[in-house]
Amino acid sequence: MKSDDTLLLPILEWPHPILRSPAQPIERFDQALTDRIEQMWHIMYHAPGIGLAAPQIADPRRLFVMDCGGRVSDPRPLVCANPNIIRAEGELDSTEGCLSFPELSVVVPRAASITLRAQDELGTWFVIELEGLEAVCAQHEIDHLEGRSFLDLLEPLERSATLHSYIEGLRGSNTVTSQETISRAEPLLAEYLMLALK
Ligand code: NI
Repeated sequence: MKSDDTLLLPILEWPHPILRSPAQPIERFDQALTDRIEQMWHIMYHAPGIGLAAPQIADPRRLFVMDCGGRVSDPRPLVCANPNIIRAEGELDSTEGCLSFPELSVVVPRAASITLRAQDELGTWFVIELEGLEAVCAQHEIDHLEGRSFLDLLEPLERSATLHSYIEGLRGSNTVTSQETISRAEPLLAEYLMLALK
């Protein structure tokens, strides 16, 4: 794997429109896809994070990578193209961060174990059972591919409060990117508050 920083791309911050739109299926399993996957590993490890979905780097396709190594006993780095959850069981409260939500941590309900069907980087279909953190991570990344975020899993009032604190956190960082993110997030906060007060 190259350690070349030219492989790095900025990670989009929610609510960038690409992060709120469903991603498109992967159709070509070619060298360009292999290169994109290598780039995603590089960006994910550099961030650092345990999962990255292609829409987070402005590639609106159904693709994610994850590696919970260091945090689970038997980590399995996974490349998942066109993933689907074909079984979900149990429930757990998951405390999550997201590379597209700087500084934010949210507790959301997730299935405790899942069966995932997806294609690898060559296009070969596989089925894998995941539980605990790995199951949670895959669910989080698949949400990105559906144009959802963990905020969509919160009750309306909590969702408004969480979005409010996210915006307040961004005000503190005062960069061009954070200003842009705030200007996109504020209308959504108004929308969420309306829904919460209904
Ligand atoms: Ni995320």
